[in-house]
Amino acid sequence: MHTHQLYHTTLASFAAAELAARPDLQTVLACLDTASQRIGDALKQGALAGILGSAGADNVQGEEQKKLDVLANNILLDVFAGSQVVAACASEELDTFTPANANAQALVLFDPLDGSSNIDINMAVGTIVSVLDRVSPVGSAVSELDFLQPGTAQVMAAYVLYGPATQLVLTVGTGVYAFTLDLKQGCYLLTAMHMLVAADTQEFAINMSNQRHWQQPVQQYIAECIDGKLGVRGKSFNMRWVAAMVGDVHRILNRGGVFLYPLDSKDANKPAKLRLMYEANPLGWIIEQAGGACSTGTAPILSIQPSSIHQRVGVILGASNEVERLVAYHQAT
Ligand code: AHG
Ligand code: MN
Ligand code: MN
Repeated sequence: MHTHQLYHTTLASFAAAELAARPDLQTVLACLDTASQRIGDALKQGALAGILGSAGADNVQGEEQKKLDVLANNILLDVFAGSQVVAACASEELDTFTPANANAQALVLFDPLDGSSNIDINMAVGTIVSVLDRVSPVGSAVSELDFLQPGTAQVMAAYVLYGPATQLVLTVGTGVYAFTLDLKQGCYLLTAMHMLVAADTQEFAINMSNQRHWQQPVQQYIAECIDGKLGVRGKSFNMRWVAAMVGDVHRILNRGGVFLYPLDSKDANKPAKLRLMYEANPLGWIIEQAGGACSTGTAPILSIQPSSIHQRVGVILGASNEVERLVAYHQAT
């Protein structure tokens, strides 16, 4: 279990040291700092500001947009596009990418509000960000091909969890750091360094209501967890489901566990739920940087060559021995 403590290091001073060679990425982090505080403020006002409920439209994925999905998307887009250090943005809530400064290097992908079904019940939600460097020359127009890079190419991944406290967790490839928002000073302060996910766990996270739609290897794995002490695992398991992947990943970073949103046969047009480029890749890289593992069951997530910005993928991540076991069950079928 990680116990967060105060290190008296602000996000800005951390970024200046850790990203000394990339001032543009320091600014990207400063943008996430600003935007997440604005989103957090809106979430706290909730019903008082009339921002709960549906926006009355669907996004490109055919999912109902909440007012806060749209608001969070607009805040992130405004802040990143206005920063001058972002070449283009892509978002869960936008059909296509939005060009910004053609003279910049960084591409920012985001899930503005993760766990939208939690908004109206005053439960934890998050923001997820993945940063890539464009492959086309700086100065030229950004194309979709610039975005279509595997998760291994990420230069920064971060999430913000709006819970009882607001926490920002990130990696730039040198381990995982967590910051807690100090509401008195209006800035994020470092509260955990080099976070580690234990290789073993007795806690799993999955939406059990989809059980009948899973493939055999996941059926077997979860059945064995539920058999507990009496079954082949010889130990009992606990279960948690936040319904916001950011929340489940945060729990796993802090006290271990394994998370699954696997492929299923619920909807033939949608064999997986989570999105590769702005959910699975950034959260998967953070988990790997903390010594955990991530896989679709049959392939390492971060190596997948995306074919579209909104591509979906089966996700298994967390404790490395559990992910390995699930991969072995997939190989055996
Ligand atoms: P989003 O709100 O960005 O669409 O993402 C929600 C995702 C993920 O965060 C969560 O783990 C999962 O959907 C919850 O799905 P169920 O409602 O099927 O449990
Ligand atoms: Mn999401
Ligand atoms: Mn979302």
